[in-house]
Amino acid sequence: MNTYTKIFKLTRDNFSEVIGECAEIIKKGGTVAIPTETVYGLAANALDPIAVNRIFHAKGRPADNPLIVHVASIEQLEQLVSEVPPKALSLIEAFWPGPLTLILKRTEIVPDITTGGLDTVAVRMPADIVAQELISLSGKHLAAPSANISGRPSPTTASHVLHDLEGKIDAVIDAGNTRIGVESTVIDMSREKPAILRPGYISAAKIEEIIGEVDINYNEHDTGALGVVRSPGMKYTHYSPAATVLLLEGPHDLVSNKVREMYADFTCRGARVGLLVTSNDLFSLTNDVVYLGRKDEPEEVARNLFLGLRSLDERGVNIIIADGSFTHDGVGAAVMNRLRKASEMIIKL
Ligand code: TXA
Ligand code: MG
Repeated sequence: MNTYTKIFKLTRDNFSEVIGECAEIIKKGGTVAIPTETVYGLAANALDPIAVNRIFHAKGRPADNPLIVHVASIEQLEQLVSEVPPKALSLIEAFWPGPLTLILKRTEIVPDITTGGLDTVAVRMPADIVAQELISLSGKHLAAPSANISGRPSPTTASHVLHDLEGKIDAVIDAGNTRIGVESTVIDMSREKPAILRPGYISAAKIEEIIGEVDINYNEHDTGALGVVRSPGMKYTHYSPAATVLLLEGPHDLVSNKVREMYADFTCRGARVGLLVTSNDLFSLTNDVVYLGRKDEPEEVARNLFLGLRSLDERGVNIIIADGSFTHDGVGAAVMNRLRKASEMIIKL
């Protein structure tokens, strides 16, 4: 079904007006794409099954892939979960509001559709002021997965959202580029030993500084694999542009040389090749090239990753050669995770 999607461009003067109108849409059970500090999310009232169903429908998201519920206060959190274990509380004190999602045992008020039928719920308090104000003013808990068609790269601008979802959602708030560029870290705090289910902006090292050892419970190479998967979302193809992505990992100069060699090879065979790279000197090869950022600045690389994949896709390239030679520390680990999942082939040099 086609919906008219309202586009609200935030300016210095219209903040309260925009939040006011969007809060009304949320209260009526509608869907609004909103900026967060990580990526844009597609928000609706998390406790209204019909509203949540609209999210699944717009994204084409499989029903067994649960949503993150966004809150603006600890009171709102307490309505959703039956207990907050001490370690979870320590993480909340250290990282909220911010890009950390906690899996906790849920209460009865959370509908099955929101959690994919699980007895847990994913909760986070976003740091972005737009998201916070919309939650506060609407008075609702906001379910908000990334605002992309399921399986596509997450959106870091309102135009990415519109590209995927225009006509399928009620509104989008355009507040420019998101600050971080990759999604929150997801950590399961509902069991004895905490486990990171999805790497994100908050690194495992930072988490271990607060609560001690955690399990790392994700497998980057199991896209599409069957079997026991603790975070349902991790079994689906993810972050994939239409083009085939080939990822090169290894020392910077070996990767740069290999990019040149592969570029020549594929171009010779008639493919249109796009490059996603950390070296300026590869820019002489083609116009179909996007700069990921400096190899020692993973935060820069995080901001450009999804933007780069989408931009090369829009130019119509068949193959994207991605340079994975940036540092894998901190948010670099999350960027690598997304790139590996987006890739058809990983070449280690
Ligand atoms: O930064 C973010 O987290 C963004 C912004 C919009 O907040 N949201 C986001 O949502 O990335 P989404 O739906 O694209 O990813 C949520 C992930 C999925 O992998 C999902 O399977 C997992 O969290 N998840 C949600 N609820 C869960 C639960 N109860 N148990 C285990 N995993 C869960
Ligand atoms: Mg997503």
